[in-house]
Amino acid sequence: MYFNRGYPVIACCVVVGLVLGLEDGPDRPVIGAPGSPVRLSESDPGVMKAVKFAEDRYNMGSNAMHIRRVSKIISASKQAEKRLRIFQENMKTAQTLQSLEQGSAEYGLTKFSDLTEDEFRMMYLNPMLSQWSLKKEMKPATLASKAAPDSWDWRDHGAVSPVKNQGMCGSCWAFSVTENIEGQWFKKTGQLLSLSEQELVDCDKLDQACGGGLPSNAYEAIEKLGGLETETDYSYTGHKQSCDFSSGKVSAYINSSVELPDSENEIAAWLAENGPVSAALNAFAMQFYRKGVSHPLKIFCNPWMIDHAVLLVGFGQRNGIPFWAIKNSWGEDYGEQGYYYLYRGSRLCGINKMCSSAIVN
Ligand SMILES: *[C@@H]1O[C@H](CO)[C@@H](O)[C@H](O)[C@H]1NC(C)=O
Repeated sequence: MYFNRGYPVIACCVVVGLVLGLEDGPDRPVIGAPGSPVRLSESDPGVMKAVKFAEDRYNMGSNAMHIRRVSKIISASKQAEKRLRIFQENMKTAQTLQSLEQGSAEYGLTKFSDLTEDEFRMMYLNPMLSQWSLKKEMKPATLASKAAPDSWDWRDHGAVSPVKNQGMCGSCWAFSVTENIEGQWFKKTGQLLSLSEQELVDCDKLDQACGGGLPSNAYEAIEKLGGLETETDYSYTGHKQSCDFSSGKVSAYINSSVELPDSENEIAAWLAENGPVSAALNAFAMQFYRKGVSHPLKIFCNPWMIDHAVLLVGFGQRNGIPFWAIKNSWGEDYGEQGYYYLYRGSRLCGINKMCSSAIVN
């Protein structure tokens, strides 16, 4: 496990990650953190060889300590082989994405390159979002009063806090909502706070902490709780703890929440007038993204398989390619200083399907 400013993150390069997991006990799950041991079936030729070897040593009078070390070394090299295979497959996927890229994105080596798609999904994405069609009806937003400008970026207007890191916890929904509220609170008071995601992870009983959540639920939970504490008062740990919320420490409240229309033009117009927007999307291409405006083929980015929540902070064009500027929560070392740029104008990856905002009166 690696730590960066107190947040658990995968900061491992592929090879180092392998070596450091070896001291872990044998009862860890098969699919776990990078570097966690892979359990081998007893018919695995490597295990058979290890057992045989251990028996031979035992019969020769060697001590148990040594036998344990031998089997550890064998499981270590198996582990390394597995991660190398995953890494090579990911590099192939990145190459395929690259060869079919319609925008200007570069895909390739990222800090997630030694995770399988399932591991990535389990550790970083949000299974609840795929059930977005079951979400509660939200109040529709009042449409923007004028058309969207050509470009807009709330980072230029002081409404966006520094990029955060959710760690190995499917809490993207909490970051998306909290950062939307940071923007709404800034619009209301002129003050930019960094607000607490951990409060939602611990205290929002409508959602499932690191197991995922829905922004529509989170707004409701925040209204019920009475508001959000600051990041400093209720700091992020990246795992569920018992709720430690205290109403005396509320630093920002919300009065209600609204759902935006699903037209990208309307979303852009609303964003420019009202602040950064909580959004969700299919994050498949994000695992491999390094920089540029990402425009994967639709087959890589089914709009019905929404599995990640983010914050739309702006939009514009780069060398003629229209984009959404998307604040992610995978640390500043992800993408372009923590941001992902997605092609705008063809409802790509379902980015228009689940846009919402808190309202502060
Ligand atoms: C909004 O919510 C806050 C905190 O709950 C409350 O004090 C305030 O009166 C509400 N504003 C309106 C207009 O309802």
